[in-house]
Amino acid sequence: MARIVKFVRAAPIAVSVGRETKYLCGCGLSAIHPYCDGSHELATLEDPGKLYWYDTDGNCHELPDNFHKIRGE
Ligand code: FES
Repeated sequence: MARIVKFVRAAPIAVSVGRETKYLCGCGLSAIHPYCDGSHELATLEDPGKLYWYDTDGNCHELPDNFHKIRGE
């Protein structure tokens, strides 16, 4: 089973755990989910009005439609 979920955030989410700060992935691209691994840098080149998908090699592909009704974060 699989699903498509739209992420619009391109930065991690800082959370305090005791005295430590942890960074959770907010972009959906991290290989070590739920934690940020820096992959959000790939999303910094995205146009906010467009929708993209990333292949397993980290290559970015633009979709011809931005699917406004896809459920997002
Ligand atoms: S926010 Fe997703 S990898 Fe950093």
